[in-house]
Amino acid sequence: MLNFEFQNPTKLIFGKGSIAKIEKQFSRPTKIMLTFGGGSVKQNGVYQQVIDALKGHEIVEFWGIEPNPKVETLRRAIELGKAENVEFIIAVGGGSTLDGTKLIACAIRYDGDAWALVLDPKKVTGAVPFASVMTMPATGSEMNNGAVISNLATKEKFAFYSYHPQFSILDPEVTYSIPPYQVACGIADSFVHVMEQYLTDTNINPLIDRWAEGILQTLIEIAPQIQENPRDYNLMSQYMFCATMALNRFISMGVPQDWATHNIGHELTALHGVTHGESLAVVLPATMTVLSEQKRNKILQYGERVWGITEGTDGLKIAETIGRTEQFFSQLGLKTRLSQLNIGEETIAEIERRFNERGTLLGECKNVNGAVARAILECAL
Ligand code: NZQ
Ligand code: ZN
Repeated sequence: MLNFEFQNPTKLIFGKGSIAKIEKQFSRPTKIMLTFGGGSVKQNGVYQQVIDALKGHEIVEFWGIEPNPKVETLRRAIELGKAENVEFIIAVGGGSTLDGTKLIACAIRYDGDAWALVLDPKKVTGAVPFASVMTMPATGSEMNNGAVISNLATKEKFAFYSYHPQFSILDPEVTYSIPPYQVACGIADSFVHVMEQYLTDTNINPLIDRWAEGILQTLIEIAPQIQENPRDYNLMSQYMFCATMALNRFISMGVPQDWATHNIGHELTALHGVTHGESLAVVLPATMTVLSEQKRNKILQYGERVWGITEGTDGLKIAETIGRTEQFFSQLGLKTRLSQLNIGEETIAEIERRFNERGTLLGECKNVNGAVARAILECAL
């Protein structure tokens, strides 16, 4: 097992009716900035529930944090937060709203431009405390310190690590209004978060392997049921809990991590606006194929324990395991090939160029450079 330190300070408040419990998290009237996405929370009643729960506090609202939050939008929220001298921020929305809020919280306490913090998080000197009412199970942002921020001007998208939410409210009933395509992307994202922390080598932390496999098996089991019954409370609770457990760093304890698929996927989003979960559905099977020698033992373990693949030579088992993984994504309704997204050589060359220029080295062996990223993307055509 590898050395590790684990601390997760986020208080989870989970279940039906839990938005009303926000009030109990404050001991005195507070000036709170609420941050929102594009308006789904007005249609599904979440906005009103939050407003009702915060009577007695002074509220400032910021609307319009878009999917793949752009620093250009966040700068306006930072200005508002500074001008209003807000004491606390609550993100009410999906991962994009919360990720954007993490940067807003840090940048309110910083004199320079917010993008400088993304490029160099060591510049972060503090943050306005923040929390979330999470409306979209996918990113795990509700219980981690990560945020992924895009820059419209430079067409870049980078991860940024700072603070955890103080608390996150997870009411599975708020997920009933999520469009089916976003649910598919959320399930794929949660699945790939587990894979990034799991699919390296065997026998490093067998207990954590089994936790990871448990999340994968649960997602595989509930995905088709959710497609049939998207308003089933028990199913949506499991989905929401899986998403949180997939990226609250619990399953990264004592194990190496990969994250090549995510970083290549972020480039597809930055260059073409591909939805995050779908970018991963395209890249993961190709990453598994190109790195199948390096990840051989773990792919075999995953194939046997998660998909029940036990027959045939190792080569056949590996091919079937990768095939089942790709099929899982396509049965969710997601595209799994670059050609289906009309993305080809020009983009592959640009991503290779960017990785070479940045000296990018990804994966548990730090061997996914520009050339390997090219091989993965060519395999994903
Ligand atoms: O903007 P609104 O109107 O709220 O609509 C959103 C948005 O259009 C809608 N939505 C969310 N909850 C809803 C709902 N619609 C109806 N009912 C609800 N209950 O769904 C759309 C997508 O929302 P978004 O927040 O973009 O989705 P998601 O949570 O998947 O977040 C994606 C972003 O998170 C980053 C991604 O890169 C991407 O930028 N990630 C963040 C991570 C982290 N913080 O640790 C890790 C992930 O790997 C990921 O990279
Ligand atoms: Zn992700």
